[in-house]
Amino acid sequence: MSEDQPLKGVLLAGGLGSRLYPLTRITNKHLLPVGRYPMIFHPLVRMRRAGIREVAVVTSPGHMGDVVNLLGSGRDLGLDLTFRVQDEPGGIAQALSLCASFAAGQPLLVVLGDNIIGEDIGDQAAAFRSQLDADGAGARVLLKEVPDPERYGVPRFDGERIAEIIEKPSDPPSNYCVTGLYFYDAGVFDVIAGLAPSARGEYEISDVSNAYIRSGGLSWGALNAWWGDAGTIEGWHEANELARDLIYEELQSLNAP
Ligand code: G1P
Repeated sequence: MSEDQPLKGVLLAGGLGSRLYPLTRITNKHLLPVGRYPMIFHPLVRMRRAGIREVAVVTSPGHMGDVVNLLGSGRDLGLDLTFRVQDEPGGIAQALSLCASFAAGQPLLVVLGDNIIGEDIGDQAAAFRSQLDADGAGARVLLKEVPDPERYGVPRFDGERIAEIIEKPSDPPSNYCVTGLYFYDAGVFDVIAGLAPSARGEYEISDVSNAYIRSGGLSWGALNAWWGDAGTIEGWHEANELARDLIYEELQSLNAP
């Protein structure tokens, strides 16, 4: 894959938002404000600035209307948006599986809609492209050191390499979390098709990455600037505080409102 073939993007904005209830009683979590913008703008702007134009947005039937009302075709953000409906919550990996025809064999950057990212990720996308050029396949996750890893997917390291990702471990094997930004080759849909649901009955994104670890194809990078998951009340408050002025200048440079 060459530099002039950008990755496609998948933005996952489904789920019930139950950890933010009752803020989410009549609206989708991803439409709540973070700083000056609706939450979902933050990951979309980072995708656009990483050179991605085509993005599939996945959300639930009850919220699709509001999401489309907000984003339209994506033109204002310099994006070409496609929408996919996740009929029932079945996990992040299941939501991603709805995008197979959209991906059409291209590699993807998948981002969770509640991830607020304080830096551009174009260099990470370039590292993933080099990995594909060299190996023809694979995946890449982005890590961040956090004080409360038990809230997230956590990598267990074997030297420099990730040996396993454990979802919300009570005894975290490292101080890193796996952020909600994932680069996958087009084989990801076959990987998901081979998954079994977890104990909570969902198809877990950590299980997808674990499958790439087993095939030897998972690389990782680290985020350096502030990063937050705004999907809990603490995380949402923190994001509002720390991300108050994030993406304003980036949106101006895209000539967006
Ligand atoms: C999800 C993933 C978890 C990841 C986190 C990052 O968790 O399952 O592995 O660390 O996103 O935002 P959730 O926030 O849906 O509980």
